[in-house]
Amino acid sequence: MKTILITGAAGNVGGHLRRELAGRYNLQLSDIVPIEDLVPGEKSVRGDVAKMADMLRVTKGASAIVHLGGFSAEGPWESILQANIVGCYNVFEAARRNGVKRVLFASSNHAAGFYKRDEKIDHRVYPKPDSRYGVSKVFGEQIGSLYADKYGLEVFCMRIGNVNATPPDKRRLSIWISPRDLARLVSVGIENPNISFEIVYGVSDNRRSWYDNSNARRLGYLPQDDAEIYAAEVLAKEKPGDPRTEMFQGGTFVLAEYGGDPSRKTAIRKSPKSGTVRKSAKAAVKGAPKLKKSTKQKKKK
Ligand SMILES: NC(=O)c1ccc[n+]([C@@H]2O[C@H](COP(=O)([O-])OP(=O)(O)OC[C@H]3O[C@@H](n4cnc5c(N)ncnc54)[C@H](O)[C@@H]3O)[C@@H](O)[C@H]2O)c1
Repeated sequence: MKTILITGAAGNVGGHLRRELAGRYNLQLSDIVPIEDLVPGEKSVRGDVAKMADMLRVTKGASAIVHLGGFSAEGPWESILQANIVGCYNVFEAARRNGVKRVLFASSNHAAGFYKRDEKIDHRVYPKPDSRYGVSKVFGEQIGSLYADKYGLEVFCMRIGNVNATPPDKRRLSIWISPRDLARLVSVGIENPNISFEIVYGVSDNRRSWYDNSNARRLGYLPQDDAEIYAAEVLAKEKPGDPRTEMFQGGTFVLAEYGGDPSRKTAIRKSPKSGTVRKSAKAAVKGAPKLKKSTKQKKKK
């Protein structure tokens, strides 16, 4: 049985993958935080992706790496730099040095969040990141491209939409991926023998999709779920959003700090009319000042 290393395994996506991939692979789980709820077939190896020595240690013996670990929303540059830029370099370089053949990289829809919602994009479009977070995902894809071309690493970049049991809002009816479809996509990334460097979208077979995901299908991905079955329920609860977030695929990430100064944590502008801070923009930024409990939103991906 293959040994698959999952970085960031203590997080949301890691939890889904552990459950979905159980019994099919030996899972080597790594995170900066300890993972204690191990089940048979799992081992835990603690490590910080920003530290090369840690990555050289945790990547040893893996057949493939599913690289999830890092900062998973918009945030301060220093955090993105360490966890996502330095961290990504370390994972690819440690894979190369330890002879790990394949890396599956958790990229994001935010690598291309500045495409408009009325555009259908495929894996060949040039990136249009909507945030520092999105830029870090483009970096990950591009270092993957370099390591594939230069060192022969096999690299599978998944521009994940949103992994959730059900799609939480209108935007995510277009980008949702069910946990079991994500596991199907990850299996393609691990098992397809003909991968050199690929970019695919990590989405279910959504009727409202903004993506032409034919590259994933060509490689063998057959999603079984469609967000549409939740559409009526989701749309009944949906409140009208800011027209600028409604225009772009990246949603609230696009509006965060729009026209503001990214060096200031409080760069999110106040609404010219009411003087209140737009919560939709703020919700996309980890590390931004906290909203009052009643208006606080969950981070959106
Ligand atoms: N959840 C989604 O819908 C979604 C969508 C698009 C992309 N992604 C990407 O998938 C990956 C996983 O997302 P998630 O929702 O599980 O995020 P998450 O924040 O729940 O989990 C990320 C994990 O990475 C770990 N981590 C953070 N810094 C680290 C470091 N320096 N070294 C090692 N581990 C570190 C955290 O402890 C956490 O367990 C991320 O790379 C994210 O950008 C997720």
